[in-house]
Amino acid sequence: MIELGTQSDIKLINEEGLRNDGRKFNELRPIRIEVGVLNRADGSAYIEWGGNKVLVAVYGPREAFPKHTQNPSRAIINARYNMAAFSVDERKRPGPDRRAIEISKVISEALEVAVFTEQFPRTSIDVYIEVLQADAGTRIAGLTAASVALVDAGIPMKDMVVGCAAGKIDGKVVLDLNKEEDNFGQADLPMAIIPRTDEIVLLQMDGNFSREELEQAVELSKKAATYISNLQREALMAKYKSQESEKEGERSE
Ligand code: CDP
Repeated sequence: MIELGTQSDIKLINEEGLRNDGRKFNELRPIRIEVGVLNRADGSAYIEWGGNKVLVAVYGPREAFPKHTQNPSRAIINARYNMAAFSVDERKRPGPDRRAIEISKVISEALEVAVFTEQFPRTSIDVYIEVLQADAGTRIAGLTAASVALVDAGIPMKDMVVGCAAGKIDGKVVLDLNKEEDNFGQADLPMAIIPRTDEIVLLQMDGNFSREELEQAVELSKKAATYISNLQREALMAKYKSQESEKEGERSE
């Protein structure tokens, strides 16, 4: 019989202080963001974050339906987080479950702080987050891509929301847990911030941290957020630069 590992017998940090994928404690997994990947959505983005692959489509602001959901003084943000059946090792049963409902709610609330919703009364802004491949950290990857897709849709915001997570493995606080670290570690702290105002708009915790560890985890994620925020901007710039060069090409033909 194969013995499954337990928290105590799986070592996640080696003698050289490196993690199972070779990262140092304060290193992120590779992140790649692409903007405007869907023609029929008002805005869209695709993100690869380590082993996560997430697609986001934004529609709106458009008249909110059913009418009783309309807010006369502002837009409502409807984020819908969904995991594809093939996104995880064991087939995920299609449709919303408690986890997806919770994640959709916290993402909607985080985005609501950033978007100038009061400019669009009675409307909804619908944000579809489709997780195609999951490897821990999908909510923050989805949220990071959702912000970019909102900009692509031309929706005015204070700043883009950046998601990041830190956790605890082998008793050490580290940045951005992968799936194995998430499974066998002691804690995970997904959070999201608005860099320009330094507001924390999402903070959840799974497991236990001491007060000191919690502060370290927040610090690690905050530092990483500055880097991720630049990636979001670069992805947007890349889209507009390629549109410009396409136009130039057409003009010279
Ligand atoms: O993805 P995130 O870390 O935001 O959320 P989580 O609930 O902490 O889930 C961690 C990971 O567990 C996911 O990214 C998936 O890789 C995995 N998972 C799964 O295999 N099957 C599910 N039904 C839900 C999550």
